[in-house]
Amino acid sequence: MKTYDKSAPVRIELVLNGQRRSGLAEPRTLLSDFLRHELGATGTHVGCEHGVCGACTVLVDGVAARSCMSLAVQAEGREIETVEGLNRAADGLSDLQQAFRRNHALQCGFCTAGILMSCADYLQRKPDPSEQEVREMLSGHLCRCTGYTNIVKAVLETAAARLGRPVDVAPDTSPGHAGLGPVEQARLVDA
Ligand code: FES
Ligand code: FES
Repeated sequence: MKTYDKSAPVRIELVLNGQRRSGLAEPRTLLSDFLRHELGATGTHVGCEHGVCGACTVLVDGVAARSCMSLAVQAEGREIETVEGLNRAADGLSDLQQAFRRNHALQCGFCTAGILMSCADYLQRKPDPSEQEVREMLSGHLCRCTGYTNIVKAVLETAAARLGRPVDVAPDTSPGHAGLGPVEQARLVDA
């Protein structure tokens, strides 16, 4: 196992959102702090810093991981994706981000970057999830604003659109949640 001098900064090289990057970190530096303070990827948020809230979630070699539970030195040579890279293949926002916007799936936005990264990973592995499965996946994230309903809608709508079919989610017409996604609006027009 590689050993480090705990008082000496280490140069870390990795691929961040498709670009080779490097920076210095002490061996005890968290990946979340390295991304934010050394590499300037401040889209990754830090909430609890002990693995509970999910705000700091990034993709490490394509798999969602809490960046507050990893050391920066563990990211050496790895591919890291943060929310800043989520729309790399898209013209503007990614389809998932657009679905969040259409469905009002965020309010303060503090949790959103982490949730988006988990959803991005999840939909790659599970392209046709049920509502219950999406809710279970989201149980790894704390959102104090939304009540999750519109986040679930956005994820299901993204999955359905990728599969070319409508999503079976009842419109939420409760006060303050009257915004409907295009699939639901189309269903209302057809009814
Ligand atoms: S800041 Fe990492 S899980 Fe909360
Ligand atoms: S949108 Fe505010 S915490 Fe989730």
